Amino acid sequence: MKSVVYSHTGDPSVLRLVDREVSEPGPGEVRVRVVVSGVNPTDWKSRLGSGGGAAPPFPEVTPNQDGAGVIDALGEGVADLAVGDRVWVYLAGHQRPTGTAQEYTNLPADRVVRLPAGTSFEIGASLGVPAMTAHRALTVAEDGPERLHPGALAGKVVLVAGGAGAVGHAAIQLTRWAGGTVIATVSGPAKAALATAAGAHQVVNYRGEDAAAAIAKVASDGVDIVVEVAAAANSQLNLDVVKPRASIAIYANDGGGEFTLPVRQNMIKNTRYQFVLLYTVGDAALTAAVEDITLALVDSALPVGEGAGLPLHRFPLANTAGAHQAVQDGAVGKVLIDLP
Ligand SMILES: NC(=O)c1ccc[n+]([C@@H]2O[C@H](COP(=O)([O-])OP(=O)(O)OC[C@H]3O[C@@H](n4cnc5c(N)ncnc54)[C@H](OP(=O)(O)O)[C@@H]3O)[C@@H](O)[C@H]2O)c1
Repeated sequence: MKSVVYSHTGDPSVLRLVDREVSEPGPGEVRVRVVVSGVNPTDWKSRLGSGGGAAPPFPEVTPNQDGAGVIDALGEGVADLAVGDRVWVYLAGHQRPTGTAQEYTNLPADRVVRLPAGTSFEIGASLGVPAMTAHRALTVAEDGPERLHPGALAGKVVLVAGGAGAVGHAAIQLTRWAGGTVIATVSGPAKAALATAAGAHQVVNYRGEDAAAAIAKVASDGVDIVVEVAAAANSQLNLDVVKPRASIAIYANDGGGEFTLPVRQNMIKNTRYQFVLLYTVGDAALTAAVEDITLALVDSALPVGEGAGLPLHRFPLANTAGAHQAVQDGAVGKVLIDLP
């Protein structure tokens, strides 16, 4: 099979297209014939590692956590999946050397989820990192909800920072599906159009207007949940617009890794800060995300593509380096790799 690998960390040129044997899935594993591999910032960050040729965690690593395809073989003891099932996968390369940038990949059965009938591989390959992160960010508030379903966010106002980002897009869609009101921030008109297409009720340009005032106009009682990609940059804005007992779920350090918090203003609002990292979120949160995302897919609530607010950028496996570079360069939308 064709596989993309790297043996040294560094820029995308460390990625090599090679031929490898297809291996049998071990006990509790399944083998998936990958149809579409999804690329996320975590994939290039892992590939870059500490940079400069430092060794990756395994002698040879195939990148990319997300993907979708068809089950091709079952390992011993796997009962609830079948050969021929159309599936999406998550955390394919977490603590394992084999991600989805190859024709076949083996992974634990609990990281392999059936796609509902009618859900495309493009959608499947766009779910893992973005949708599961968004799900976690939306389900950590003190006043709930702990799970998402239609009506779960009824009466809640969610502020999605960066509504044209991959995680932001999933957060908007999941909030809409769950019945919440969504305000998204963006940096310009093109991204405003995408966030609106994703379903945001209101879009605020955080660069061009008084964002706090614009958000307050829509959320006169304040925001219940913030899904935050740039915690340091938006720290004061968030504190200005949240209502008492709001949660600010921080899943990235885009634009700055440190910030200070005014104790009194946070105390007065009983603010809750919840940090989110998919790799360490725990099995209960992963299972909840899988189950709720599956229900959202059945309701066709998570479409992708320009018309749905997430333009697709497609690359062949042989140009996985180009796909990584595109994500690293801040491609707007979703970068996908089509397998031969
Ligand atoms: N913790 C986790 O488990 C987890 C999971 C997924 C992703 N992440 C991380 O989250 C980040 C985003 O991932 P992604 O796949 O969504 O990337 P993406 O598609 O590139 O989106 C990032 C978005 O953030 C926006 N942004 C940057 N600064 C902003 C600010 N000050 N206010 C509002 N929006 C801002 C960008 O828009 P503008 O530049 O136009 O503002 C862009 O739309 C990456 O750092 C990634 O590594 C973490």
